[in-house]
Amino acid sequence: MPGQIGAPAAASSVTEKSNASGAQPSTGPSENPKESPGATGTQQGDTYASFTNRDYMIWKVQTDKFVAQGKQIFHDTKLLGGTIGVSCDMCHPDASNTHPETYPKYQVQLQRVALLRDMIDWCIENPVKGKALDPNDPKLRALEAYILAQRKGIALNYGKH
Ligand code: HEC
Repeated sequence: MPGQIGAPAAASSVTEKSNASGAQPSTGPSENPKESPGATGTQQGDTYASFTNRDYMIWKVQTDKFVAQGKQIFHDTKLLGGTIGVSCDMCHPDASNTHPETYPKYQVQLQRVALLRDMIDWCIENPVKGKALDPNDPKLRALEAYILAQRKGIALNYGKH
């Protein structure tokens, strides 16, 4: 404390400094970042403690933007590269019946165990009559993000038909 007479130890001045910065005491390295949205940016041997609310906001905005791109492509015959004016939402409104949580699973159409991206490509080639996308094509990645985002909260259940 200022003005306190005879404050003796170096340790007490360290305590005063960290209090003055407004930092919350760290609960240690196992702290779950989701449970500490008020992290202050103070590095205390805990990597997550260095992320701020602003960081979480930026990550959310970027993730939502990625999903929104997928939503746009899902609804756009031209972006999908279709040749007969058909888009995904015509058969899967709001990505219904896409069941991303059931992958990987055996798909009879493909005669093998498929990932979600394989079925997205199957629908691009067949009902949509377009050209299958490379797995790393930004459009396929965005479609996958959108479809998964529509099933938030549904338990994973791979192999389920
Ligand atoms: C003309 C209707 C039609 C259109 C358009 C269509 N699909 Fe499909 N989709 C189907 C049918 C039929 C199936 C097969 C269901 C099955 O056998 O599991 C299917 C299956 C799927 C599956 C797997 C579902 C599951 O339960 O495993 C996904 C994922 C999917 N479609 C995504 C898409 C995407 C992405 C597009 C746009 C590129 C699209 N579909 C366009 C009819 C359509």
